[in-house]
Amino acid sequence: MVLLLKTIRELRSQIAIHRQKQQCQVGLVPTMGAFHQGHLSLIKRASAENNFVIVSIFVNPLQFTPTEDLAQYPRQLQQDLELCQKLGVDLVFAPENQEMNSSGDTTSLDDNTSVIPPQNMTDVLCGKFRPGHFTGVATIVTKLLNILQPDRAYFGQKDAQQLAIIRRLVADLNIPVKIVACPIIRETSGLALSSRNQYLTAREKEDAAQIYRSLQQAATAFNQGKLEAKVLIDLVKEKLSPVAGVTIQYVELVDPNTLQPLEQIKDAGLLAIAAYVGSTRLIDNIVLQKRQPIVAIDGPAGAGKSTVTRRVAHQLGLLYLDTGAMYRAVTWLVMESNIAIDNHEAIANLIKNVSLELTSPTAFDLPTIVYIDDREVTNAIRTPEVTANVSAIAAQAAVRQKLVEMQQQWGEKGGIIAEGRDIGTNVFPNAELKIFLTASAAERARRRLQDLQNQGRNDIDLQQLTQDIQQRDEQDSNRAIAPLKKADDAIELITDNLTIDEVIAKIINLYNQIK
Ligand code: PAJ
Repeated sequence: MVLLLKTIRELRSQIAIHRQKQQCQVGLVPTMGAFHQGHLSLIKRASAENNFVIVSIFVNPLQFTPTEDLAQYPRQLQQDLELCQKLGVDLVFAPENQEMNSSGDTTSLDDNTSVIPPQNMTDVLCGKFRPGHFTGVATIVTKLLNILQPDRAYFGQKDAQQLAIIRRLVADLNIPVKIVACPIIRETSGLALSSRNQYLTAREKEDAAQIYRSLQQAATAFNQGKLEAKVLIDLVKEKLSPVAGVTIQYVELVDPNTLQPLEQIKDAGLLAIAAYVGSTRLIDNIVLQKRQPIVAIDGPAGAGKSTVTRRVAHQLGLLYLDTGAMYRAVTWLVMESNIAIDNHEAIANLIKNVSLELTSPTAFDLPTIVYIDDREVTNAIRTPEVTANVSAIAAQAAVRQKLVEMQQQWGEKGGIIAEGRDIGTNVFPNAELKIFLTASAAERARRRLQDLQNQGRNDIDLQQLTQDIQQRDEQDSNRAIAPLKKADDAIELITDNLTIDEVIAKIINLYNQIK
């Protein structure tokens, strides 16, 4: 019996079931080759999030305007292949022009059907100066997505206009792929890496580094409350005007998603620049975003992180990102689905599209309210059966990766406080306030002893407890996954002689200073 489907949604879910059987997550990194660390960062991210990684290398003639450097564009396939090999890429797709001219009915790619992005997204920024460029990008990216059908495709924030247009394209054309944006990789001078940097002399590179410095100055002004486009744009222009080697083509402030010009930043603004350094055209940008701060609390076991974090969350009205509850929820789901705890592959599959929701309880000593796939599991995840299995689940790389990805998504909105061993170093390296909450091993042992005595245990030896804590610190600091480490910019709070109320007051005070 043939299955008749009438909606895209039904169709998608059928496809999803089919792909689940294959247990395959395909990540695509589209490039034009001549790799530098920027490209490699995309590939590494794709490898971390997928079990099959495809890199495409195609110097796309459609996106070069007639006056541009198509013929000179650096081509170094052999070297790129070696880099792919080193990074464990599964497949490189490096087609000839003719191969991409798939219909074969025409002599050139130029005669193919074009994908034309909305005009108001191409009228701005680079689009004004590169007529046809984004149609060329949109056409080739659509072809690549259709040919390779990846689950995720990776693009750099470096080409912010390209990224926004591709996001819009994928939404408008219902292409079932997740677009993942990756941060800009820079040289230590601040110069954004680009294949075109190869054209620059040493002197020109120095001048080019001023481009990012000018954006940073605007970011500082923004953080100090300057929100008007004109003020921010003029600042960039002023900063660059004494740099003789740099000729600005444009500086614009636009909405990062719609690319429409902004007069003032409400939530977020994309401050973007294109400039010539010698005869080389370079682009760069910075996203200026007002979001609620993130507070990250790290520190050794037994320093009181969890209690302190809950109470600070409650007092400041922040969401406590209860990572423990997240791991419990996944554990519950695995058990509920009758999957064996050591069946890593089935578990990785199960959580691929899981949705998790956390809501603050009404009092700090109540558990975080948790929904998994729209089912309320606040109490169900706190049974002894779940407790017994949670560390085996949390140790699985795929689970950890998925949950860190989710935590970072929450982080984009801000207004959260989280605690752990690597929250400030690994999960939220950009947190506005990082606290390293610690106490001497002797003090932590004393507190633990008191807790145990309160539970009626009088058989515990303080010296043994201290030794155990020291040993755990040592292990936690040396673990391969998420080791305990104080972030360079974390504020160390030693709580030996402080009451819990004093600790909380100190953190709230620090928070009010950064807000
Ligand atoms: P290409 O310029 O080779 O860039 C490939 C990807 O690397 C793009 O997503 C780009 O944004 C990203 N990238 C470049 N420099 C970066 C940096 N310094 N940091 C982070 N990411 C960086 O962009 C293209 O190719 C093409 O337009 C393409 C999308 C392949 C379509 O032809």
